[in-house]
Amino acid sequence: MKEINKCLFPAAGYGTRFLPATKAIPKEMLPILTKPLIQYGVEEAKLAGMNTMAIVTGRGKRSIEDHFDISYELEHQIKGTSKEHYLTKIRNLINNLTFTYVRQKSMRGLGDAILTGKSLIGDEPFAVVLADDLCVSKDSGVLSQMVQVYKKYGKSIVAIETIDKNDTNKYGIIEGKLIEENIYEVSNMIEKPEPQNAPTNLAIIGRYILTPEIFDILQRTKPGVGGEVQITDALLTLSKEDKVLALKFDGERFDCGSLDGFMKATNYLYKQEQN
Ligand code: G1P
Repeated sequence: MKEINKCLFPAAGYGTRFLPATKAIPKEMLPILTKPLIQYGVEEAKLAGMNTMAIVTGRGKRSIEDHFDISYELEHQIKGTSKEHYLTKIRNLINNLTFTYVRQKSMRGLGDAILTGKSLIGDEPFAVVLADDLCVSKDSGVLSQMVQVYKKYGKSIVAIETIDKNDTNKYGIIEGKLIEENIYEVSNMIEKPEPQNAPTNLAIIGRYILTPEIFDILQRTKPGVGGEVQITDALLTLSKEDKVLALKFDGERFDCGSLDGFMKATNYLYKQEQN
């Protein structure tokens, strides 16, 4: 079985919910404490053993590339001073990971963003992180937990959590058979169903492990909810061949695409830092 070395970050969205903050700053660069959102995702992927971060960007996202690159002027100013330690974590990422980029020219949905990343991924299994969803867990990161499941089954995996039944229209919802503690074999999935049409309240969160056959399927997938190509619809096709699992992960997830989740994540991590 091929190892998972690459992690794809769809990061071309406009971040309209955070305007005007996101007018000139990508939403992925908004900080939770002193780190931009996307850095949390990159650290989680590194912890799970991945060494290449494949980022799907768009116009106005240059600061993401600058963040994961050396700033010579800053290095020069700070070298040998008492402030040098502020750069330790980001230097560690820059020195040990490869960052690759491709631009999504028009926003046609998450499925289209993932398909745009094909040129960076090639013919191998890969992870996907939606940086909006900040995940924390006590023992091992969510992606690390998913890699363990992948090593056992070799199938595509979505991370899920139980949500309030009234919120099903914000998520991809899965239905499936429990095959081992916290692991479901997915038989059905629907993107953002109204509560009365939702088969369960098991919601997909922004962590995926995908096998490369997903690219061909995405190419054939017609636009769905919102007129956008949905990864949920492509995974539904794959699930018909019993090739998709869902993992109820151990940990907590904050929806940093909403102000409420963003504040909760900030408070949670700030409290942790104080202890
Ligand atoms: C996307 C996916 C959805 C998933 C969600 C997780 O939706 O389409 O299936 O549940 O991410 O955050 P979005 O939040 O981009 O509308």
